[in-house]
Amino acid sequence: MPDFSLSPEQESLRDLARKFARTEMAPHAAECDRTARFPEEIYRKAFELGLMNLNVPTEYGGSGLGVLDQCLIVEELAYACGGMTTSIIANCLALEPILLGGTPEQKERFLKPFCADYQFASFALTEPSGGSDAGALRTRARREGDHYVLDGEKCFITNAPHASLYTVFATVDPALRHKGVTAFVVPRTTEGVTPGKDEEKMGHRASSTGTVRFDGARVPAANRLGGEGDGFSLAMRTLDQTRTPIGSLATGIAQAALDHAAAYALKRHSFGKPIAEHQAIQIKLANMAQSIHAARLLTWHAAWKIDRGERGTLESSIAKCFASDAALHVADEALQTFGGYGYMKEYPVEKLLRDAKLTQIYEGANEIQRSVIARELLRSYE
Ligand code: CAA
Repeated sequence: MPDFSLSPEQESLRDLARKFARTEMAPHAAECDRTARFPEEIYRKAFELGLMNLNVPTEYGGSGLGVLDQCLIVEELAYACGGMTTSIIANCLALEPILLGGTPEQKERFLKPFCADYQFASFALTEPSGGSDAGALRTRARREGDHYVLDGEKCFITNAPHASLYTVFATVDPALRHKGVTAFVVPRTTEGVTPGKDEEKMGHRASSTGTVRFDGARVPAANRLGGEGDGFSLAMRTLDQTRTPIGSLATGIAQAALDHAAAYALKRHSFGKPIAEHQAIQIKLANMAQSIHAARLLTWHAAWKIDRGERGTLESSIAKCFASDAALHVADEALQTFGGYGYMKEYPVEKLLRDAKLTQIYEGANEIQRSVIARELLRSYE
């Protein structure tokens, strides 16, 4: 029989994240959303509490947490603000290729100084000409002696305008498709590296998203992760790890939407009684609760599998896809429960709907997740 109980350490991690989310993040969520402010003071506190480099082993200065532990934290943070959570956990995505593909020397050289201070790293895979077809990326890496010269542009990169380090996926030969993709660790200070401006976004407005250009950026060959052509599988293995916490991020948004809707339904009256007593509203709340419960269990299961050292490609795509679809639907139903008030910016649910939407798109659009799920599934029938 599976055991769904959490250890005392996991309970205290969740309590820590909940307290931080509700006291430090939530009070500023609406203002940061309205003004698209990147709240450095909150991110700095998150770093000081060990909430930023969650997946990095303690020997390199991170928190050394497994994926389930990360999920518990991420759901709590996202309950307060999806956008802030995206920025807080983006280092996990950017540093994972170093954890998976870096030599002991590279981990020592990159992770230790990075984790010693408050700073951001960005995962630079997506390009203006395509995001879903990662094997078709065009940023070039040309070998020149003991360096590579990088040319190209990345877009939709979380925290790019603020990052001090980029993990960059470039190709040594586009004709090789995914077999040419190669990963590099590129410090922002490298000549020829130019982060662009913050994008104006529909949701996750406390987070920062931008482009980064590489114009003849000379990167030491010693900064290459793995061999030439290893980058694609490194990116995929990274996403296998990080898509599950995105499922938790979506679950946190959905839980916040349900809590707002239920509280409102108990106090709002129509036809002489609280709307919570109308069956139409009860059905909504019941369906929302079911979706959230299923999303949480799917993310926990995927995390459990990955933490056991098993490949969680199928489970992480299922968790990310289901939880993000659920979040959008739950937020929509919460808004509908609020009626006209839900559509007003004065109330919190329209933000949740906008924030939920991105979870269906980033870290692989849900169409890609379904393609991954189908491929994994069909393999077992061959
Ligand atoms: N683990 C290890 N290896 C894997 C793998 C995995 N999960 N998935 C694929 N591979 C390997 C395959 O085994 C294959 O290896 P061989 O060459 O040895 O046979 C190779 O990679 C190519 O695999 P596919 O044939 O499956 O590749 P594909 O070109 O058909 O594409 C895809 C697969 C799943 C669609 C992939 O392109 C993909 O995931 N795209 C989405 C990219 C994505 O998620 N982007 C999000 C960016 S991050 C972000 O959004 C965050 C932010 O900062 C905003």
